[in-house]
Amino acid sequence: MTEKAKIAVLVSGGGTNLQALIDSEKKGIISSGEIVFVISNNPSAYALTRAEKNGIDTAVITKKQFGGDQYAFESKLIETLDGANVDLIVLAGFMSILSDRFTSHYEKRIINVHPSLIPSFCGAGFYGLKVHEAALAKGVKVTGATVHYVNEIPDGGEIIMQKAVKILDGDTPETLQKRVMRLAEWKILPASCEKVCSEIMKGK
Ligand code: GAR
Repeated sequence: MTEKAKIAVLVSGGGTNLQALIDSEKKGIISSGEIVFVISNNPSAYALTRAEKNGIDTAVITKKQFGGDQYAFESKLIETLDGANVDLIVLAGFMSILSDRFTSHYEKRIINVHPSLIPSFCGAGFYGLKVHEAALAKGVKVTGATVHYVNEIPDGGEIIMQKAVKILDGDTPETLQKRVMRLAEWKILPASCEKVCSEIMKGK
């Protein structure tokens, strides 16, 4: 069997993007990588249940466990990820900004899915439903999702894939979020994951 890139997925919530990755691995859309670990910074994230149902190892690592200390929190993340020999870290609804020290430790080995067309509605403070609220408040007619490499600038790393989604009359942040997930995020995240895993494996 050919060796695959080891993927860790970092989550905080429902984990529908994690589910899309799991399903894509099963379907062979992701063939150059395998999800070996799911780490949550929220002990009650449903994403953890999704991982367990699929036999994927999980860990809960929170900043609270370290008295709110970012350095100690990230040290534990690094120890866990390096201990599992992870090749690629996928941020799939991970609601914590990582420091330069963390991102530079994994240069070109962390990707993130963001629910807008970067550079619109991104950066610190733009996450989850807030992104869709901002898009509707601005009155844009098209939004979408972006997968990008993660560097020290929130949502500022090199773009890997984007997909546009039309805003419809009567959209609410919730209806828009669901459509952006279904039509964009759940497609470009697995596709980007495969692209990056295959590049990592070629470089090995
Ligand atoms: C997704 O829409 C993801 O793009 C967004 O949070 C949601 C998580 O949903 N991430 C961000 O806003 C990061 N800045 P999920 O837990 O069901 O995958």
